[in-house]
Amino acid sequence: MKPVILVTRKLPEAVEDRLRRDYQPILNPTDTLYSSADIINMAAEADAILPCHTEKFSAEVIERLPARIKAIANFSVGYDHVDVEAAKKRGLIVTNTPDVLSDATAELTMMLMLGAARRASEGEKLVRTREWKDWSPSFMVGIQVTGKRLGIVGFGRVGQVVAQRARAFDMTIHYHNRRRVDPQLEGGATYHESVEALMPHCDFLALHCVASPETAGLLNKERIAMLPDGAVVVNASRGTVIDDEALIEALKSGKLYAAGLDVFNNEPDINPAYRELDNVFLMPHIGSATRETRDAMGFRALDNLDAIFSGREPGDRVA
Ligand code: DGY
Repeated sequence: MKPVILVTRKLPEAVEDRLRRDYQPILNPTDTLYSSADIINMAAEADAILPCHTEKFSAEVIERLPARIKAIANFSVGYDHVDVEAAKKRGLIVTNTPDVLSDATAELTMMLMLGAARRASEGEKLVRTREWKDWSPSFMVGIQVTGKRLGIVGFGRVGQVVAQRARAFDMTIHYHNRRRVDPQLEGGATYHESVEALMPHCDFLALHCVASPETAGLLNKERIAMLPDGAVVVNASRGTVIDDEALIEALKSGKLYAAGLDVFNNEPDINPAYRELDNVFLMPHIGSATRETRDAMGFRALDNLDAIFSGREPGDRVA
């Protein structure tokens, strides 16, 4: 008998084809957003779950999952939606999909930097609403990305690719990471031992750290105050790493020039103040949303399931 996999969202066609070939998948062709109660009920028939970050596996949900569930094989690199300690306690295997989304997320990060610096939201709105009336030397003037200093918090896979892409814009790279990375991987970037030490060196600040209790509200009022005046903040990691009130205040006061945000606290019901600010470039959590990457994420999740159901250690085990 092929293992039964509960797939919580609609996945790319090629991934669903492979699922049908190798497993008995319970698919979600209408891409309905299931509640925790739905998942607990549907999991009664399943041997593993293949969810996205949109499904939350709190300790309570994990405790109520049927005993036959062996694994949660996430279709995401982030796994802050899963209580990993609770999973470990229950002997549940949890996996993620690292590496395969670094390029797409780095591209999106560059887009956030460029969009924020060059006032993309305002410009697009002007054209779409027919409010664009004229051209003048003072019209829609933004700031340049080329040659600026980029500070990266979290110099893992995504942070390192962002640094590579940013170097093509002649940016000088500074970073903070829990541990200094191998100098060969630094590519000349300057390491700072604390977030505080990094802040004064950031004309642009990109957040690529893992969401955890330690990084919750990492970019707060005190740290924003340490950034150079007129800095730009971009975030394509998780909304929780930003204190929204502090960021909004700094965008309103002009302490920060602009922000580019792809992720938010409480998605999709974001802090409404962001929608009112011209100097934020907003995207709806699409860092990994390219055809190539979404296929690769699905295949990576399936590679993990293949290992689990053939008694091997999955490559991307996080619990
Ligand atoms: C990830 O993989 O963590 C992306 O944010 C999509 O969930």
